[in-house]
Amino acid sequence: MMKNIGFAGWRGIVGSVLLKRMLYKNDFYNTKIFFLTTSQIGEKCPIYANINIHPTLQDAYNIQLLLSLDIIITCQGSKYTRIIYHKLHEYGWKGYWIDAASYLRPFPNSCIVLDPINLHVIKKKIDMGIKTFVGGNCTVSLMLMALGELFKQNMIEWVFVSTYQAISGAGAKFIQELLLQNKFINDNIHNIINDNTLNILTLERKIANVMENKLFPKKHLTIPLINNVIPWIDQKMNNGQTKEEWKGQFETNKILDNKFIIPIDGICVRVPTLRSHSQSFMIKLKKELSINNITTFLQSHNKWVKIIPNDYENTKKYLTPQATNNTLNIAIGRIKKLNIDKYCFSAFTVGDQLLWGAAEPLRRIFKLLINIF
Ligand SMILES: NC(=O)c1ccc[n+]([C@@H]2O[C@H](COP(=O)([O-])OP(=O)(O)OC[C@H]3O[C@@H](n4cnc5c(N)ncnc54)[C@H](OP(=O)(O)O)[C@@H]3O)[C@@H](O)[C@H]2O)c1
Repeated sequence: MMKNIGFAGWRGIVGSVLLKRMLYKNDFYNTKIFFLTTSQIGEKCPIYANINIHPTLQDAYNIQLLLSLDIIITCQGSKYTRIIYHKLHEYGWKGYWIDAASYLRPFPNSCIVLDPINLHVIKKKIDMGIKTFVGGNCTVSLMLMALGELFKQNMIEWVFVSTYQAISGAGAKFIQELLLQNKFINDNIHNIINDNTLNILTLERKIANVMENKLFPKKHLTIPLINNVIPWIDQKMNNGQTKEEWKGQFETNKILDNKFIIPIDGICVRVPTLRSHSQSFMIKLKKELSINNITTFLQSHNKWVKIIPNDYENTKKYLTPQATNNTLNIAIGRIKKLNIDKYCFSAFTVGDQLLWGAAEPLRRIFKLLINIF
């Protein structure tokens, strides 16, 4: 039977990547799609060949319409979920809710999906009648994909992580602003950038002054991110962590359905890259393993993990955001034992946070659900 699907947030950065993947994989077979919007009600929908689409954009807050849908996919964000999810359930909606936002992740009746890691948990939750499936935090999902086998074998004592998170992790408006910041600087130095007679410090000072200019674009970021890093992502928690850092331990253990919590902490940093998140790990194992054993374990877990040899040529070629952008690859390298403790090793991983870190687990749970009801 044909299923009615609502898709909110399809225009945002995660939604756009998800839509592109679903079209490529022909996931909309035997469905009718209602594209939902919070800002363009009544405008024409994008047209895609061989897909049954309601011709105009529908109000994402239209409860009557939402009640008629079998599955709602939303990449609209937590604010939307917070309003609509409860209202729909108060009206007795029985459909499946698939969400990229973080709001529902801590709810006991939600399942955080990352099927290469927790398909058994997902299946158990489906059998229990759970109907709320949420993608995990981007760095958590990428970490689990990279270190999957060590978690599966219960070999990890704890993890400390430093993240290097791209601006697309903050959404479409922020990407635009970072590009505007770049342009603002270039517009102000283009006549001196090639002047070899200029002292290099004069150029550096000029850029610093431009970044202080009151017209510098920073409506969303509030400070320059270009030529800068911001070691803070999301709200402050009352234990000194940011919420992004808090998610590391909470979500990892929920995804794994762990009875005994694996401690995870770190510092999450926004950097001025466009796409793909990088993470530097310090990992303590429960027993000593050789580097060969560690890499064999890591490689064996899933087909997307790519072990990058620990040398300069391979690192600069394959272990960068540029190398993983727009791919499903999870690159992991810089694997070495640490002087600090024989049970500890370091690793650096990079993955496209819009794919395995956001859209891909949602696409795959959609596919699973559409085939079972
Ligand atoms: N970005 C990531 O890497 C990532 C990873 C994991 C989870 N998430 C979560 O996924 C949810 C969606 O995140 P997102 O990064 O995709 O947000 P986003 O790009 O800001 O898009 C969200 C909504 O903003 C509106 N919008 C406003 N200006 C826009 C513009 N210039 N271009 C496109 N859309 C615009 C659109 O809604 P209308 O069409 O209704 O106006 C869009 O659906 C969030 O809860 C986020 O926390 C994000």
